[in-house]
This record gives sequence, structure tokens and C-alpha cells, in this order.
Amino acid sequence: MRQALTYLGIGVITLLAACKPDPEVVTPVSSDSQKWLDVTVPPGFPEIVYPTDNRPTEERVELGRLLFHDVRLSRDQSISCATCHIQEHAFAEPKAVSEGVDGTAGFRNSPSLANIAWHPRLFMDGGVPTLELQVLAPFDNHAEFDASITEVSDELRHDETLNRLAQKAYGREFDPYVMTRALAAFERTLISGNSKWDRYLNGNARALSDEEKAGMDLFFSPRTQCSTCHSDVLMTDFSFRNIGLYSDYADEGRQRVTTFEEDNGKFKVPSLRNVALTAPYMHDGSVESLQSVVAHYNGGGEDHPAKDSLIEPLNLSLTEQAQLVAFLEALTDETFVTNLDFAMQP
Ligand code: HEC
Ligand code: HEC
Repeated sequence: MRQALTYLGIGVITLLAACKPDPEVVTPVSSDSQKWLDVTVPPGFPEIVYPTDNRPTEERVELGRLLFHDVRLSRDQSISCATCHIQEHAFAEPKAVSEGVDGTAGFRNSPSLANIAWHPRLFMDGGVPTLELQVLAPFDNHAEFDASITEVSDELRHDETLNRLAQKAYGREFDPYVMTRALAAFERTLISGNSKWDRYLNGNARALSDEEKAGMDLFFSPRTQCSTCHSDVLMTDFSFRNIGLYSDYADEGRQRVTTFEEDNGKFKVPSLRNVALTAPYMHDGSVESLQSVVAHYNGGGEDHPAKDSLIEPLNLSLTEQAQLVAFLEALTDETFVTNLDFAMQP
């Protein structure tokens, strides 16, 4: 990934240069001729702020969906985005760390893409500012697609369906500009807000069992502080924190981006929506079950100079730990993981 980030820097500059919108080509898709997609945001969720040049339309999202599932994006045509971001796992992956072409191992666990539209920064270290730019990362990464985005789009331009959709969606031939925009537009539709907990919040008092409710009360209590970081309906405040997983981190986390020692071992607070489907856990997939995650917090973690002051021994009973796990399991949104709009063949 270090390599990916270095390459990303170069890629970003070339792409931005290549993407300077050409007014003549872009005019046909101005707001007059485009029908913006009406995206429903779940009750209580903040509005989605779309980039002005990439508001969602049916064609944009459709093109993004096709690309997301297309193995032609990888060097040896063996993997797609969906290989590592699997819908039945809430667009995460059941492996500890991902493997790209030729089975080359990466070094982080593939995160869920649910509600990715709201993330102010991408990657666990926050190294990528937008979803459009994030698309470059898997191409440049030897442990992911390991392919040139320019060569791949030159190939895909010959695909009539994709090229026709590109014209309709962005008023230009299929190219890296179209590819990055369309994938990002699709990803912003991956919205999940229909778990048992949501149904409870929206007035169905019986949506949660007594055990799940007890777990919810613990989760939102000053005693555990869970909701200080995993806050609000998105279940994250998007800050970077060190939770004392190790006394010596192999992965520097946020420090990779800022270079500050005090950011060592800090990772973006993950949302806990659908967390029962996204095992194994943590940036390196080193924790296998929710029981073990809760046991980690209960023990207060390892000593580390950058460890967050909120992480300290909790003295929860075994019953209370089981209640927390039951609440985490109530955050699964079945409609999200079975929604055919996100699948390869709708
Ligand atoms: C080989 C597996 C693999 C492939 C292929 C892959 N990803 Fe990922 N993806 C990952 C891993 C691992 C991370 C975590 C990287 C990090 O945080 O440093 C990630 C992170 C992301 C993130 C940031 C998530 C966050 O919480 O910040 C997005 C968005 C994303 N991928 C989308 C895509 C898209 C779109 C594609 C296809 C163009 C793709 N990925 C292809 C494994 C993969
Ligand atoms: C100081 C902020 C903070 C507090 C407090 C906190 N967490 Fe976390 N949580 C994080 C961060 C950051 C990670 C990711 C750490 C990593 O990848 O190394 C995480 C990871 C997790 C994960 C794994 C998610 C995944 O997808 O890998 C679960 C589950 C979790 N926390 C539950 C809880 C529970 C339950 C509590 C309360 C007992 C809690 N957290 C308290 C910041 C916090």
C-alpha cells in the first residue's frame, strides 16, 4: 500500500490533468438534459453532499455497477472490485487481508462500503480525499488490480454497452475520467439504514429483544464510551484513533499520511453497521469474532503512547459482554445485502 500511495500521487496528478472538463464535450450532460437520480436517505441520516460534477443519474450509477463487477479491470482479468467487496458481507471480505492478482497479499482488511458516501476521507489512514480518486488505488496496487487505468479504459472503450453508457452518462467516450466518476456514483448508492436497531429508532419498540436493548444501553453509556467514537446513525465520527490493539504497530496507520509520531497506530473509526457480516475485524483482520472485539475493549488494550484515553478496562460481566455482542448483531441490514440494484445481474 505504501507503494500504492506513492503511485497514487503520480496517478492523481496525471488524472486531474486528463480530467480537466472540456466544455464542448460536457455540455450535452448539463442539468437540462440529465435526470438526477432520486436517492432516498434513511430517516435520521444526514444529506449526501455530491460533487457538483458527479451528481448521480441512472446511467452513471448503472455504468458504475457494471464496472464494479467487471474482472477486465485487473491485469489478468481475474478480479473485480466485488472480489474484495462482497455484497453478502456488506461489501467487505471474510479474509484477514485481501489478495489481488496472482494471489499477492495486501496488508489491510477490506472494509465495508456501506454508507461510503458520507466518509469525508477514504482509507483507514484517510490518505485519499474522494471516492473518484480512490478508484485509482486498486489499479496502481500490485496486490490488487496491478493494471494501468489508461490501458484498461482503452480496452473497455471497445465494449459497445460501456461506451454507449459513457456517452449518455458523461457526454464523452469511455476513459479514466468516466471510469472513476461512474464507480464513485455507484458507490454513493450503497446506503444501509434498515437494521433492527433502525426499526427500533423509528418507533418499533419490539424490533429489539431485551438482550439487544440492554446491549444498546451499554453501548451508549458513559461506562463503555463506545458511542463516543462509533457515534450517531452512521456509527462513526470518522476520527482517527489508536485503540491499543498493539504496543508496537506493524502498520503505522494515520502516521503514514501525516508523518506525526502521535498518529502512530491510529485508524479511521469504522462504522459498525452490518458488523456481524464483516469478520474478521480491525485494520489487519487480526480479531476473529465480535466476542473477541468486546473482550479487547473490556481488557483495556495494550499500552501505547498514542492510545486513546477512552480505552481503559471496563469490568463488564460476561452477561454484559454478551449483551453488547447481541446489540452489534442487531445492526445487520438484510435488505442492503440482498438488494439486487447492487448485484452483478439486477
Ligand atoms: C484485492 C482486493 C481489493 C480490490 C480488488 C478492491 N479493493 Fe477496495 N479496498 C480493499 C482494501 C484492503 C481496502 C482498505 C485499504 C486501506 O484502508 O488502506 C479497500 C478500501 C476501499 C475503499 C475505502 C473504504 C474506506 O472505508 O475508506 C473504497 C471506497 C474501495 N476500497 C472501493 C473499491 C473499488 C471501487 C474497487 C474497484 C475499482 C476496489 N475497491 C477494489 C481491497 C480491495
Ligand atoms: C476511542 C474511540 C473508540 C472507542 C471508545 C471504541 N471504539 Fe471500536 N473502534 C475504534 C477504532 C479506531 C477501530 C478500528 C481499529 C483498528 O482497525 O485498528 C474500532 C474497531 C471496532 C470494531 C471492529 C470493526 C471492524 O469493522 O473491524 C468493533 C466491533 C468495535 N470497534 C466495537 C466497539 C465497542 C463495542 C466499543 C465499546 C466497548 C468500542 N468499539 C469503543 C474506535 C473506538
